[in-house]
Amino acid sequence: MIKKIAILTSGGDCPGMNVALKAVVNSAINNNIEPYVVFEGYKGLYENNFEKISKEEVKFIDRKGGTVIYSARFPQFADLDIRKKAVENLKAEGIEALVCIGGDGTYKGAARLTEMGIKTIGLPGTIDNDISSTDFTIGFNTALETITNAIDNLRDTSESHNRINVVETMGHGCGDLAINAAIITGAEVLSVPERKLTTKQMIDKLLASDSKRSKIVLVSELMYDDLNKIAEEIERATKQETKVTILGHIQRGGRANAIERLLTIRMANYAVKMLIKGKTGVAVNIVNNKFQTKPILDIVKMERPSKQKILSEYDEIV
Ligand code: F6P
Repeated sequence: MIKKIAILTSGGDCPGMNVALKAVVNSAINNNIEPYVVFEGYKGLYENNFEKISKEEVKFIDRKGGTVIYSARFPQFADLDIRKKAVENLKAEGIEALVCIGGDGTYKGAARLTEMGIKTIGLPGTIDNDISSTDFTIGFNTALETITNAIDNLRDTSESHNRINVVETMGHGCGDLAINAAIITGAEVLSVPERKLTTKQMIDKLLASDSKRSKIVLVSELMYDDLNKIAEEIERATKQETKVTILGHIQRGGRANAIERLLTIRMANYAVKMLIKGKTGVAVNIVNNKFQTKPILDIVKMERPSKQKILSEYDEIV
């Protein structure tokens, strides 16, 4: 029977990390397990920066964005000596298991700790929705809402001023945020890594569009060297004033929305139950509305699912 667990958040923060933390703490205590938090992810594990936490301390954190136990990118964790120190720190405190909330990099760290005798379970926390084993990651739903609100606002002003807006979302090589936002907001042009357009293709679509005034060109990050140059070319060809908006880290902030909170609480509670059942080296997924676990080592090797179907739906709808 596990007596003590620790929880960490790692990699890019996302809405819902605090919700997950609170739910794990509550669920652990309700199962007579003492929860600890690690500050700044794997860096804190290495630096022995963790402490015991109570239900009272997490009572209101679910209303906040970001992660109250902080996050860090810590590539040094790939070093065996660094990991040995982290494992020593956990063992000195009598902590046998770790809940790791984050994306790909977080999962890789968890898999390495499993090999070193620590029980681990992952919760998918990233706005990018780029973990192939799960239909949804924690943070995606809220980030999508933030993007939708931003584009709705841009529509107001660009309709008033007869403008085109080139809008860039995050995604880190995964088009899910942009594709879903394009469907919701009716973006006239969509370019994502799964279906990249040339500037000429963007212009052709804009010229063929039924929209008279406001037009949105939605692109995913890390695809083009210079969006301002693309906007200039679009303006020249369409003779319509064109502005660029990079949504940036605004997409990562804010408190998780209701659906995100509900899904996250249930996922986190499931994670604790699975740890108690003896599962380790796995992460929680939601697939077709059901929770399940899958070995992390399999997850990190999985290919990205095809986006063909949802891209066709975008083509049909917009
Ligand atoms: O993985 C989340 C994410 O926001 C990506 O969409 C983005 O590419 C990256 O993190 C940005 O990382 P950082 O905040 O370290 O610049």
